[in-house]
Amino acid sequence: MSPPTAWIDLRSDTVTRPDAEMRRAMAAAEVGDDVYGEDPTARTLEEESAAAMGCAGALFVPSGTMGNQIALHLHARPGSEVICDVRSHIVLHEMSAMAALSGLMPRTTVSADGILEPLDVERAVAVDVSLRSRPGVLALENSHNMAGGRCCDRRRWEALVAVARRHRLPVHLDGARIFNAAVALGVSPRVLTQGCDSVMFCLSKGLGAPVGSLLCGSAEFISEARRVRKMFGGGMRQVGVLAAAGLVALRRGPAHLATDHAHAARLALAIAGVEGLEIEPREVLTNIVFFRVTPEFAGATVSPEGPAAEVVARLRAGGVLATAMTADSVRLVTHRDVDGAAIDRVVELLPRLGAAGG
Ligand SMILES: Cc1ncc(COP(=O)(O)O)c(C=O)c1O
Repeated sequence: MSPPTAWIDLRSDTVTRPDAEMRRAMAAAEVGDDVYGEDPTARTLEEESAAAMGCAGALFVPSGTMGNQIALHLHARPGSEVICDVRSHIVLHEMSAMAALSGLMPRTTVSADGILEPLDVERAVAVDVSLRSRPGVLALENSHNMAGGRCCDRRRWEALVAVARRHRLPVHLDGARIFNAAVALGVSPRVLTQGCDSVMFCLSKGLGAPVGSLLCGSAEFISEARRVRKMFGGGMRQVGVLAAAGLVALRRGPAHLATDHAHAARLALAIAGVEGLEIEPREVLTNIVFFRVTPEFAGATVSPEGPAAEVVARLRAGGVLATAMTADSVRLVTHRDVDGAAIDRVVELLPRLGAAGG
C-alpha cells in the first residue's frame, strides 16, 4: 500500500513526484527511438549533462546503479578489484552486480567519514600482482550516502586522483548526489569531477526528476557505454518523455538543495537535543541525517529488529516515514517535497518518541 501523500516521507530523496512543469514537459516532449540514437530530447539532456560535469559526452541510463555498473564494467577487467570504501553504494546496495555482471571484486578500505584516505588507497593498489588480484578501478562516492551525506573536499580529491594516476588506475565517481556535494562545498560540480574518467549522477534524487541518471565521460567511453547499456538491458526507445522531466530538473539546477540541507541541519539539531538519540550535528552537511538510537530510548517494547526499527515504527505512527539502516541507526533524507512546516512537525514529534513518551 502506498503511503498517503499527507505523510512526511523522509525515507529517501528518491520519493519526490514530478511537478506540473515536469509533467507538461513530458507531455510535450519530442521523441524518437533512442536505441537508433533518434530521440532529440534525450540528446539534449545528454549534451547539457556532459557540459554540467565538464565531460565530452554523457549517456542517459535508467538508474544510478546501471550507470555505476556500466562504468565498472568498462574500466576493469574480470578478475580485477574495485578499490572503494566499505560502505559505498556499489558494495552495499547494488545487488553484487559488479561480481555478477563484470567478474569484479571489491577491495574495500575503512574510513571514518566514508571518503577514502589516499594512504589506504596507495596500500590497496601497490600490490605484487603475482600474489594478489590486479587493481582495476578506483571508485569514489560524493556525497557519501551511508556516511550520512559527507563530502570529499577538493584537497582530498586531488590526493586520491594523484594516487590513481601514479598507478595508472581509472577513476569512477558515483556522484548520485554530486549537486548536494557541490552546494555543500560551495563549488561547481565540474570541480568535483576533475581527474575522473567517468562520473554518474542521478536526476531522480535531490534534483527531483522521476527517473534517470547520466553516465558521463570521454566520447570514446560513452560510445562503449552505449553498447554496454544495451547489453545490460537498458536500451530505451521513446525515452524523451523521461528525459524531458530530467531536463527540467537539470536546468532548474541545485538552487533548492540549500533549503534541503538547512532542513537536515535543523533535524540534526533537534535530534541532538533528545536524550537517548545520538548524532553529531556538525557532521550533517547535506540532505542525509543518520542518528543512533540507544536501547534505553526505545525501551521495553523494543521491536525484535532492534531499537531503530522501533523508532521507525513510532515515527510512522506519527505520520513520518524513515528508514532503519542498521539495528540501531535511522536515516532521514530531506528533499524538495518536504517543506519547512513538515520539518517543524517532525521536530515536535521527536521528543515524544522515547519509551517514556516525553
Ligand atoms: C550513492 C548512490 N549511488 C547510486 C545509487 C543508485 O541509484 P538508483 O537507485 O537510481 O539505482 C544510489 C541510490 O540511492 C545512491 O545513494
